[in-house]
Amino acid sequence: MSIVNADLAHLSPKDPDWWRQSVVYQIYPRSFADANGDGLGDLRGIISRVPYLQSLGIDAVWLSPFYPSPLADGGYDVADYRDVDPRIGTLEEFDELVAALHLAGIRLVVDIVPNHSSDQHPWFQQALAAGRGSAERDRYIFREGLGADGELPPSDWVAAFGGPRWTRVDDGQWYLGSFTKEQADFNWNNPDVREDFLTTLRFWADRGVDGFRVDVAHFLVKDLPDELPSWEEIWKLDLNSGTHPLQDRDEVHEVYRQWRQVLNEYDPPRSAVAETFVTPDRRAKYASPDGLGQAFNFDLLMADFDATQFRQVISTNLDLVASSGSSSTWVLSNHDVTRHPTRYGLPPLDGRDVKQGVEWIQAGAPADGIDLDLGSRRARAATMLMLALPGSAYLYQGEELGLHEVGDIPAEHRQDPAFFRGGKNDGLGRDGSRVPLPWTTTGASFGFGEAIAHIPQPTWFSGVSVEAEEADPASSLALYRDALRLRRELHTEEKLEWLDDLSGDTVLAFARPGGWVNVTNFGAEPVALPDAEVLLTSSPLQDGLLSGAATAWLRA
Ligand code: BGC
Repeated sequence: MSIVNADLAHLSPKDPDWWRQSVVYQIYPRSFADANGDGLGDLRGIISRVPYLQSLGIDAVWLSPFYPSPLADGGYDVADYRDVDPRIGTLEEFDELVAALHLAGIRLVVDIVPNHSSDQHPWFQQALAAGRGSAERDRYIFREGLGADGELPPSDWVAAFGGPRWTRVDDGQWYLGSFTKEQADFNWNNPDVREDFLTTLRFWADRGVDGFRVDVAHFLVKDLPDELPSWEEIWKLDLNSGTHPLQDRDEVHEVYRQWRQVLNEYDPPRSAVAETFVTPDRRAKYASPDGLGQAFNFDLLMADFDATQFRQVISTNLDLVASSGSSSTWVLSNHDVTRHPTRYGLPPLDGRDVKQGVEWIQAGAPADGIDLDLGSRRARAATMLMLALPGSAYLYQGEELGLHEVGDIPAEHRQDPAFFRGGKNDGLGRDGSRVPLPWTTTGASFGFGEAIAHIPQPTWFSGVSVEAEEADPASSLALYRDALRLRRELHTEEKLEWLDDLSGDTVLAFARPGGWVNVTNFGAEPVALPDAEVLLTSSPLQDGLLSGAATAWLRA
């Protein structure tokens, strides 16, 4: 396969609104394709697969961190924000990747991780060397400990992936690491930090990057009182006040207003999307046009496969973007959660966190309490529904193959800090969605590369490889390709009209401008479709009826 010179008719290179309704495909670079045969995915691997990305029909790639990193958290511990991890490539190869994607008509969004750096970042090393009270230490959040000799942490706070949030350094001070001790939180009240991230944004924007995904965007600015509240007390404080000591403080928007000015120096302006876990009304601030412009909405991902929940999530989010002027983001899978075919094969979440899904899978085979086939059918239906919504859709590598979560990774091959530190709600951790992709039915790593992959792949990956699915017109890959091609043809204004006479407790139907109708059957029994041209279905029709757990696209 080679790159077909892009038909840019569907996207104008200078369109400032290109992100509003784009399909963005997330690449977790160390697990996508390994060109140099060392078991770790690399930039050359991605370059070699640009024709595949083009054939899929996506509009943009979001590249998870590819920066130099000790990999304490899958690359979300960055040691140098303006370089490429030498194990996976060079800046020249990065430039080649940008060029290859652009030639294929695909834009590139890169991940930026501003809440914390790796403890191996030169600034953190300088902070350690310079000692207490120094300008170098002020770029991070250092505190004296409690107890007679400061031997106790400044507070009893727990890190997101388990263990204490404070770590003691040799001279006795403690620093804050909200996720792991290898990820030291920056002090966003320090002007050096603010300035340096503007330099980083320009560095990548100058290299042709089209946009940025901003990691834990609501965490940056903190305001820690002299006397720290206990962990129990801190979560009783109002998270929506804009004055919580640890997150979603109103001042964070000053940072993003400054970022927006830099992003708008480019033509077209560079896009940005915030990863936030805040309430929907607070989310709108991150998505405002003088802020980042767009914010992730994980509500669909948190919902069960249920018509009422889906309708409520969709309506709320469309109302919300109408008020902020942004467009909605939809996502069902990413590198942090159990893949959606697996989630949908489990009993309803019933308040359980989506990340806990992996605990239900044993030995990679259908275990008690999980119905993999039902999960797959629901996932295809939910994906088609998502792709029919106004706004942008985020896909995660491998979901086009219908991959299930890999449950049986031996402990010695796991990498996620959440697994090792027993982080709340993380169960087996996130490695099961980060297993390198299968490209071929055979080979040491099913075509991922020449060597065994850095996280072991299960044998069933052979049957869900790109090669296997390209030979099967009923495969998940074929469905994604058809759906993405049709979406490009059918997508128009960002509007949706519920079709109440077709909808009910188990069916959701809506129309988009131009006669594009989506009908999703969330129930188990087949339902009749209205009299219209059937364009695509996620499962074959049964005697002309839409089967249970299926979606149909129609042209009215
Ligand atoms: C990323 C995670 C990462 C965390 C800390 C997130 O929200 O998506 O993968 O572990 O931020 O950087």
